[in-house]
Amino acid sequence: MLSFKNLIDIDDLSLKDIEIILENADTFSDVLERDLKKVPALRGKTVLTMFFEPSTRTRNSFELAAKRLGADTVSFAAATSSLRKGEFIIDTIKTMQSMVVDLIIIRHSDSGAVNFISKYIETPIINAGDGKHQHPTQALLDLYTIKKTFGSFKNLKAAIVGDILNSRVARSNIILFNKVGIETTIVTSSILKPENFDYFNVKTATNIEEVLPFVDIIYMLRMQFERQDRKYYPSIKEYNSFLSIDEKRFSLMKENAIIMHPGPVNRGIEISEGLMNIKDESKIKINQQVRNGLAIRMALIYLMCLKQD
Ligand code: NCD
Repeated sequence: MLSFKNLIDIDDLSLKDIEIILENADTFSDVLERDLKKVPALRGKTVLTMFFEPSTRTRNSFELAAKRLGADTVSFAAATSSLRKGEFIIDTIKTMQSMVVDLIIIRHSDSGAVNFISKYIETPIINAGDGKHQHPTQALLDLYTIKKTFGSFKNLKAAIVGDILNSRVARSNIILFNKVGIETTIVTSSILKPENFDYFNVKTATNIEEVLPFVDIIYMLRMQFERQDRKYYPSIKEYNSFLSIDEKRFSLMKENAIIMHPGPVNRGIEISEGLMNIKDESKIKINQQVRNGLAIRMALIYLMCLKQD
């Protein structure tokens, strides 16, 4: 049984919770391998997704995960809703909650918005990404991908590279990696590094080439153009020279090391076009991250709905 009601922050998770979620993801991964990729575990339950910020892969992943468990899904379309008429967000959510849903999945462009909403709502909530704050299911699916690749987290070293300042994925992943003992180095420029950085308790580097020969996981962050209120880098060429990976740098990686990215990739910025076209799934894990995301979200939806029974 999980120890939390809402999943808003990686800090909500105990080590035992992480273990339970990964174990259940394994079971659901097996279901996804079958011809008939569906179980009736949550028949009669309803999962509501409310995305107040554009998303393709995350919303589809949550909705498909709920469907694969036999739950009904309702998707709230923020752009065409009464929010446009000035309705208060809590009233909107309470209206949706009155339709009797068992779990609400929320994405919002403001950091802290999902936590704020959770104070007014009884139904369990999963944070599907809030502003620059956190994206816990991304971190969990990344951890699951690492577990499937390496078998355990023992003696692993990771580098998280790029726009740390504006990335909710960075915040969630650093905290989760720390929790399970993966030694993490941040590779970024001083301008893309948050001020309160000591909190994270990680090493830092400024050039990806410094870490490539030593780390097992190269985690490339997407440049968060939509969250940048000014130009953080003089040019793409400048960014490429310190913080990107291409085929030449790929050859500097440790033998069994892997590249990860939460998607969508800005081709030519974080990862070169040439490297994106290499179809080596043993080293470039982006498609597997997406696949594992489905199993992790099935596990979470299942466990969080089950907890209420
Ligand atoms: C991430 C997000 O939206 O935070 N993407 C995702 O969930 N598919 C990562 C990103 O956009 O940088």
